Amino acid sequence: MELLWKSPMRTQVIEIVLALALVGLVSLGGAECRKGRILQGFEYTAINCRAHSASLTDFGGVGDGKTLNTKAFRNAINQLSQYGSKGGAQLFVPAWKMVDLGALTSQATSRYTSTKMLFFLLPNTWECKASEDATEWPVIAPLPSYGRGRDTKGGRYISFIFGTNLTDVVVTGDNGTIDGQGALWWQQFHKGKLKYTRPYMIEILHSDGIQISNLTLVNSPAWNVHPVYSSNILVQGITIIAPVTSPNTDGINPDSCTNTRIEDCYIVSGDDCVAVKSGWDEYGIKYGMPTKHLVIRRLTCISPYSAVIALGSEMSGGIQDVRAEDILAVNTESGVRIKTAVGRGGYVKDIYVRGMTMKTMKWAFWMTGNYGSHADNNYDPHALPVIQGINYKDMVAEDVKMAARLEGIAGDPFTEICISNVTIGMAAKAKKIPWTCTDVAGITSGVSPRPCDLLPDQGPKKIGSCNFPTEALPIDYLKFKKCSIA
Ligand SMILES: *[C@@H]1O[C@H](CO)[C@@H](O)[C@H](O)[C@H]1NC(C)=O
Ligand SMILES: *[C@@H]1O[C@H](CO)[C@@H](O)[C@H](O)[C@H]1NC(C)=O
Ligand SMILES: *[C@@H]1O[C@H](CO)[C@@H](O)[C@H](O)[C@H]1NC(C)=O
Ligand SMILES: *[C@@H]1O[C@H](CO)[C@@H](O)[C@H](O)[C@H]1NC(C)=O
Repeated sequence: MELLWKSPMRTQVIEIVLALALVGLVSLGGAECRKGRILQGFEYTAINCRAHSASLTDFGGVGDGKTLNTKAFRNAINQLSQYGSKGGAQLFVPAWKMVDLGALTSQATSRYTSTKMLFFLLPNTWECKASEDATEWPVIAPLPSYGRGRDTKGGRYISFIFGTNLTDVVVTGDNGTIDGQGALWWQQFHKGKLKYTRPYMIEILHSDGIQISNLTLVNSPAWNVHPVYSSNILVQGITIIAPVTSPNTDGINPDSCTNTRIEDCYIVSGDDCVAVKSGWDEYGIKYGMPTKHLVIRRLTCISPYSAVIALGSEMSGGIQDVRAEDILAVNTESGVRIKTAVGRGGYVKDIYVRGMTMKTMKWAFWMTGNYGSHADNNYDPHALPVIQGINYKDMVAEDVKMAARLEGIAGDPFTEICISNVTIGMAAKAKKIPWTCTDVAGITSGVSPRPCDLLPDQGPKKIGSCNFPTEALPIDYLKFKKCSIA
């Protein structure tokens, strides 16, 4: 049965500027949008501005509050695609009422061969609601590096905003809100009634040059921002809010991506605030695409049942060179967590975290070598993950139940762990033993309470001994332009 939910008719005024120039597959899932104020023109910051403009009326859009504008949007995206190689285009959508806007899709074809661009602009007048009607979410194939959907075997509902095989993608919005209306999806998930994996809020595949900035995403059906098989990605100024008990509402999940910069984000969610991934078991090993050169800075996270930054558990393509700093965690289960299992293969190497403040935590540090959760039973029991070169320094925590729970894999220890200058204030009802360590190796300096024997204290002189790279990554040298829509 395809139609899971009949969404109620809603009539709301909307005003949208959708500017795009693309080649590839783009879709905006079932949406409706509400107006905030009359748009007089809008300035924004982007890696590239767009040369052409059009209005939704040019594509048959009608602002009577009843007409479904899905077709107009689809036409617009299809038509404006041809400007991808000519500097891109902007689509203006005037202040209109819109009901249950459906998925917008544009398929890559060989017609467009040169510059590929997508640009969505969502000014702060937007408050879009994703449709709850499952027919508004076409089903797409599972990711090859996962072999199946995350919720169910087989396909996945397409994401609310979806793009693939694009170059120069901008999704920005002066802090406009997109409401994923996740409640019904969460309910269906809990009842085991989902036929396919839940949609994500924003998913961009196989793309180079992605900017997702200045948006508020609330109540996503599942993950919020999911760049996959992509490079040169900026995620900036994103506010993500979902109930802390909502299932798998991960914040930002770079997955098999190179050169990613996540900064100035505020996330309250029911799962990991940032989850770094690279494919699942034998599928991820075969696909073999790591996530590397990832910067995370100025992140605030509240997630009582999950981690601030999770590495894994899907890490079978490898994770390398992650640099996180200036992180604030409040009422969160763990700070940095490594999640892996026998059968994952892959690696988590060269991880650097510094300048983290944690308030009210279950664990400051958590490593889990027996996470389990396999794609299927065909994983290779000899595929052992390599966890190596994990550096944590300059951190303060308070009200913590247990400083660290570090569990490697028997016969496959997690090595070169370095923790220095970390002060963990324990909760009134803290566990008696603050550190537990098995199958791990490394060193510590200036850490309190006193670490476990597997991480021997090198003395106060080694307090600066854990690494953090001094050379910036190319993604830090992004140049921005001031763009506008009249
Ligand atoms: C996000 O918004 C802030 C504040 O308005 C602005 O300074 C910044 O340039 C914007 N960044 C992007 C990438 O849109
Ligand atoms: C997108 O790019 C990937 C990787 O290069 C390729 O395998 C796939 O066929 C492309 N898809 C489309 C729709 O062009
Ligand atoms: C963006 O909007 C959210 C939700 O309304 C709000 O909590 C947040 O403070 C806003 N962020 C900025 C930078 O204005
Ligand atoms: C220790 O970490 C704190 C931040 O928690 C920092 O202010 C201080 O400079 C660090 N000390 C050393 C010796 O690096």
